[in-house]
Amino acid sequence: MSANIEDLKSELTTMVEAANDLDSLETVRVSALGKKGKITAQMKTLGKMDPEERKTKGAALNLLKDEIAALIATQEAALKKQALEQRLSTEKIDVSLPVRPKAKGKIHPISQTMEELNAIFASMGFTIAEGPDIEDDWHNFTALNFPPGHPAREMHDTFYLPDDPNEQGEAAKKLLRTHTSTVQIRAMQEQGVPIKIIVMGRTYRSDYDITHTPMFHQCEALYIDKNIHMGHLKGCVLDFTRAYFGIDDLPVQFRPSFFPFTEPSAEMDIGCSRKDGGLKIGAGDDWLEIGGCGMVHPNVIKNCGLDPDEYQGFALGFGIERMAMLKYGIPDLRTFFENDIRWLQHYGFDPLDRPNRATGS
Ligand code: DAH
Repeated sequence: MSANIEDLKSELTTMVEAANDLDSLETVRVSALGKKGKITAQMKTLGKMDPEERKTKGAALNLLKDEIAALIATQEAALKKQALEQRLSTEKIDVSLPVRPKAKGKIHPISQTMEELNAIFASMGFTIAEGPDIEDDWHNFTALNFPPGHPAREMHDTFYLPDDPNEQGEAAKKLLRTHTSTVQIRAMQEQGVPIKIIVMGRTYRSDYDITHTPMFHQCEALYIDKNIHMGHLKGCVLDFTRAYFGIDDLPVQFRPSFFPFTEPSAEMDIGCSRKDGGLKIGAGDDWLEIGGCGMVHPNVIKNCGLDPDEYQGFALGFGIERMAMLKYGIPDLRTFFENDIRWLQHYGFDPLDRPNRATGS
């Protein structure tokens, strides 16, 4: 090894050994092996040498490079070990400290209301059915007796998905379901009749104000068998609203209405009274609309491949948020989906709470 390589070696060795933390070791590494480092600078002089000298000096420089790199690696390992030991000796965990209090979770009023409704309808013999949020035009509209171009389609403010080139035709058009009535069709096709189901889930419409959010939840009930009539429908509405609100004499009235998938169709109201801007649910001098219902239209039954002369029944549907707002006094629908932990602490439920299931349980 030539004298100046020997000098360089001892200079770099001293520098590496003097580095007493990882940052200064990195500075040394760059100044020795980096692009503008000392060994690199020496390497660059090789080109101007004659071949014999280049051969010996090149080999010596490569050796030096390896030695310094190895030295840096050893020093790095030693510094890391030292740093870890220092951390371990200074950091202490006091295992006797109490656990940091975490924000306590609450059950969202939507989940709570769904559970209450599930329990009530289950006690009346309804089973749970489900369907997809992304639907096609046929299940959301056509099969429910909304023919293409029917004005009632426009009332739904539908979110359509971009056309899928694989699936042609108006009926295959994909959308976000605008109501849970879609599951009437799916359930009748899959399970046949007689059928007695409830459906709860997300629904979507392009609308936003104090009483509308683009995503909301609906509950739907369907009961099809032989000889089902409006008396059964009224009894069902009476029983479930009384159980849900925990009011034994809650009155219910039907008002004539129109839905393409029911005939006759009705709006369901429950009794209430209003005083000084306040609303009280129960027998009173006023009425409050809670949802729609009716006898399932023969075309709907036919569209599911079933015989409407043999089977008929009723369906009803309502908004779950609205039911929660009425029972628990929540004034603004939009707050349900703002994810404000203070709102949830206030309106949410403890996991083992069973707020008045009253007559429902
Ligand atoms: N699907 C209706 C809507 O979203 C609600 C509804 C009305 C459902 C009448 C029903 C029914 O099952 O019979 O506005």
